[in-house]
Amino acid sequence: MLRALARIDLAAIERNCLLLARVVAPAALCVVVKADGYGHGAVPAARAAQAGGAAWLAVATAGEAAELRAGGIAGPVLVMGALSGPELTIALHARADVVAWRERFVAALAAHPAADGAGVHVKLDTGMGRLGTRDPEEASRTAAAVASAPRIRLAGAMTHFATSDDDPAFAREQLARFKPWADAIRTEHGPLLRHAANSAAALGIPESRLDMVRCGIAAYGMDPFGEDPRNHGLTPALELRSYLAEVKPIAAGESAGYGRRFVAAAPTWIGTVPIGYADGVRRALGDGCDVLIDGRRVPLAGTVSMDNITVDLGPAPPERGAGVVLIGAQGSERVLAEDWARRLGTINYEITCAISPRVAREHHRGAAG
Ligand SMILES: Cc1ncc(COP(=O)(O)O)c(C=O)c1O
Repeated sequence: MLRALARIDLAAIERNCLLLARVVAPAALCVVVKADGYGHGAVPAARAAQAGGAAWLAVATAGEAAELRAGGIAGPVLVMGALSGPELTIALHARADVVAWRERFVAALAAHPAADGAGVHVKLDTGMGRLGTRDPEEASRTAAAVASAPRIRLAGAMTHFATSDDDPAFAREQLARFKPWADAIRTEHGPLLRHAANSAAALGIPESRLDMVRCGIAAYGMDPFGEDPRNHGLTPALELRSYLAEVKPIAAGESAGYGRRFVAAAPTWIGTVPIGYADGVRRALGDGCDVLIDGRRVPLAGTVSMDNITVDLGPAPPERGAGVVLIGAQGSERVLAEDWARRLGTINYEITCAISPRVAREHHRGAAG
């Protein structure tokens, strides 16, 4: 029995991608596998995404592109993040496409010894306020510089939405800034991919799909709107598991955990589960969060420690060694990453990305075994 295990259902990722690919067609599906596939394992997630119809993969960093190639992943890969000189070299050696918005960057890229055939996606910042240029003329000059450089290709025109999950009206304003510019670039320089939509836009703003969508969160079966993934037919791929390492009775008035934040009101049994905040079970989860044991909900009791949590098993405790599901389903009960996110005042993305490397990953296909 492993103390802490993330079981990742690759068939669920594949199914989610099949669904997304079908929904967004004729737009192409690019699946975002940055941050170790949002905690799911970048290489296995990438392979499952491709099996589910992803024509492209996207990552944030050059190192992540290199990791995909080292793992045997073929096909188009886009590095979406900013690249320093040494990082550009890594991205080019990984045969990844890169993003540009300044002519100086294009000049350095065009002169790079490993640049032959590299695809470049020019980024217009239409309201995200992060990467890209806000100036459509600078973006157009950048695109022209790429198109006229002999060894590199103008492969895409892109932007990124700030509010597609909670303010679609602003996302539509961004789209209204992006589309005429991207269309003009395409008219001037020939075929290229116009892409803007993340998961929330791909599902909620059909006109934003353009030639390609870049979906991360939905591919992993999490809801981009922070609600129930079932609303969009998505299946969560990740289950976080541990087990009951210790089961013991405590009397009324006795406590469990740091700070004595749980004091038993009546005699009960405490279970100790060897997974804690160093594994990604955030300390702020505390009271009111449940785990699943033998198909029933069991509340956390007291403070989350670095390596352990304690749960209140009540008067009829399960056996020592019983399996504990922290995120996932057991019987008819489910605990979603979205439930944790709501409790923590954050987003589901942060929940799975925070599952630390100390937690073993096991990839499988099909129902939890
Ligand atoms: C530029 C860019 N495109 C697409 C995505 C995928 O977003 P989502 O996971 O919401 O689908 C991200 C992720 O943050 C991103 O940074």
